[in-house]
Amino acid sequence: MKTLLVTGGCGFIGCNFIRYVFEETDFSGTVVNVDALTYAGNPESLADLAQAHPGRYVFVKADICDKAAMAEVFDRFEVDAVCHFAAESHVDRSIVGPGAFIQTNIIGTYILLEEARKRLGKIKRFHHISTDEVYGSLGPDGYFVETTPYDPSSPYSASKASSDHLVNAYHRTYGLPTTISNCSNNYGPYQFPEKLIPLMILKAVEEMPLPVYGDGLNVRDWLYVRDHCTAVWRILNEGREGETYNIGGHNEIENIRVVQTVCDILDEILGTTPNGTRKRLVTFVKDRPGHDRRYAIDATKLFNELGWRPEESFDSGIRKTVQWFLDHEEWTNHVKSGEYQTWVEKHYGG
Ligand code: NAD
Ligand code: TYD
Repeated sequence: MKTLLVTGGCGFIGCNFIRYVFEETDFSGTVVNVDALTYAGNPESLADLAQAHPGRYVFVKADICDKAAMAEVFDRFEVDAVCHFAAESHVDRSIVGPGAFIQTNIIGTYILLEEARKRLGKIKRFHHISTDEVYGSLGPDGYFVETTPYDPSSPYSASKASSDHLVNAYHRTYGLPTTISNCSNNYGPYQFPEKLIPLMILKAVEEMPLPVYGDGLNVRDWLYVRDHCTAVWRILNEGREGETYNIGGHNEIENIRVVQTVCDILDEILGTTPNGTRKRLVTFVKDRPGHDRRYAIDATKLFNELGWRPEESFDSGIRKTVQWFLDHEEWTNHVKSGEYQTWVEKHYGG
């Protein structure tokens, strides 16, 4: 693997992944980061990398749905491996406007698969990043395994399910060397504050109401983002072609407990507010339509085949995350104010 194409590298998980590759692996090739810089893409998250690794980190502002632009990227940089993160990723946005999800998540994945198919033999691996949400909702018991039937609930998860099927079809039909990973909910540095954990941290710091959907008893299986990155790297390099791997670290927690934990940690670090503990800010709001009740991942295949283990527990990961957001006021202020988009316009012409 000499040139790794990472799509969506200016998003939350993509930027953590690129950092991980440069900071903690022995990869000596080039990373080409292709990102369209939607509202969720923030090149400030990687601003130091181009300087630190001249020639080995390349950023290309482009849309994965742009066939000509993708063909040029594959040729110009002689791409021989792909790690595909780019997506529209927020369930609530997919409910309000599914179009962008169909476009990027399905059509965009198809465009990339086609470019890879045209270079069959040259492409050593096409790794597709997906979600456990493709499996739908669990009752109080049981876990998602790789053979659990797909049953997506939201336009987001349906579009990811569709892209997973395309990836598998390109393996079976054309022999493209693909792998897929389906991961549980991530949290950690650089997450856009539309998702539960960063949203609650920033709102609780400002002592604003903390909107918890429904009864707050929906369960998500939380994984610290760096652990997701180590798993993806392992699968990209050692996973068996044509296989799917679930990624998760057995951290099932009810939403209300996640929010209360964030409040407790902030009270501990910043002190309680004059009006008391931040837990008083919890406000139950109308439920999300089609809200999946529970996700829980069985990652035994990944444990047994590739020997992967997560490093962080939820307790250690959530502390690091809260501290990171407190320590990175400039990043969060730019994101909250939309100033990062001014930065994008200045550097990349909008
Ligand atoms: P994100 O929304 O933070 O980032 C997505 C990135 O993709 C952004 O930088 C955006 O600019 C870019 N992008 C969007 N449309 C594009 C297009 N048409 N062309 C090029 N770039 C485009 O998302 P994330 O949370 O980092 O998720 C990354 C991947 O991981 C997604 O595929 C998502 O489905 C998957 N995933 C996320 C989670 C999670 O908890 N966040 C869990 C499991 C799987
Ligand atoms: P989210 O971070 O949007 O991830 P996903 O929907 O992909 O799991 O939401 C995580 C959980 O938190 C989900 O059950 C919905 C809930 N939630 C709230 O209760 N309030 C909020 O403001 C948000 C954004 C999410």
